[in-house]
Amino acid sequence: MSDAKSTVWDANLYLKFADHRTRPALDLMGRLDPANGARPGHAVYDLGCGAGNISRILAERFPEAAVIGIDSSEEMLAKARSQTVDARITFAKGDLAHFAPTLPPGILYSNAAYHWLDGHIDMFPGLLKLLPPGGQLAIQMPRNHEAPSHASMHEAAQAGPWREKLGKVRPIARVEEPGRYYDVLKPLCSDLEVWETIYQQPLTGKDPVAQFTSSTGLRPYLELLQEPERTGFYEAYAALLRKAYPTRPDGITLFPFRRLFIVARRA
Ligand SMILES: C[S@@+](CC[C@H](N)C(=O)[O-])C[C@H]1O[C@@H](n2cnc3c(N)ncnc32)[C@H](O)[C@@H]1O
Repeated sequence: MSDAKSTVWDANLYLKFADHRTRPALDLMGRLDPANGARPGHAVYDLGCGAGNISRILAERFPEAAVIGIDSSEEMLAKARSQTVDARITFAKGDLAHFAPTLPPGILYSNAAYHWLDGHIDMFPGLLKLLPPGGQLAIQMPRNHEAPSHASMHEAAQAGPWREKLGKVRPIARVEEPGRYYDVLKPLCSDLEVWETIYQQPLTGKDPVAQFTSSTGLRPYLELLQEPERTGFYEAYAALLRKAYPTRPDGITLFPFRRLFIVARRA
């Protein structure tokens, strides 16, 4: 499964790689027009806000606006609330599949969340329509599902006594070709940018790529297993990754990671 409702997010493990995960969030934010974020009575929404670390950066970038983080995970929301002192930032539980803003949005921002939702591409025109003319929609999603980091999850799942149990895992929702997002959004936009970046992430430590995915894409697999199968499966997956992402003589494991970005302005 890849449904956030039944996925327990490990906020601490996710934040271990905060620097690598923050960079794309900032690259996305950097393309937003600050002049269009702070309309009176309009909020900046952080959709799938996780532990709220990006919500706090959004609040710095849009100092006049109310910032509202939405997430379906109680654990992430608890972390977000415990780390946020600015009363201008609030957090609420919600499912992005049924997002209905409580304040009119000026900006809808989402970093690394919508790829968890099947059929997310069909939700994006509806999100844009929630915005006033000139309002901005900004979305970043990993598009690394064909890379060994993600393909090896399936391979390891098939190659052990856990095969039947892991057959229940739904693959992560497909992130489409960039042009498909362009086509569905363009008729509603005055400006639209769609681009991809492959980040060459330098990781350190033992099995760093497996550790990286353990807090995100690998979780639905790990959650279905008890010990000792859980460790057995993790080791089988990590062994595949050691071959695909060898550690360099300087101790660095480079983990190339492709991400898709969309910044749209409502016509
Ligand atoms: C990879 S984390 C990203 C967190 C944050 N945006 C960041 O960049 O640090 C993905 C987040 O999306 C949330 N999420 C996934 N599916 C969701 C859904 N259907 N509704 C609301 N939140 C969801 C998860 O709970 C998780 O906190």
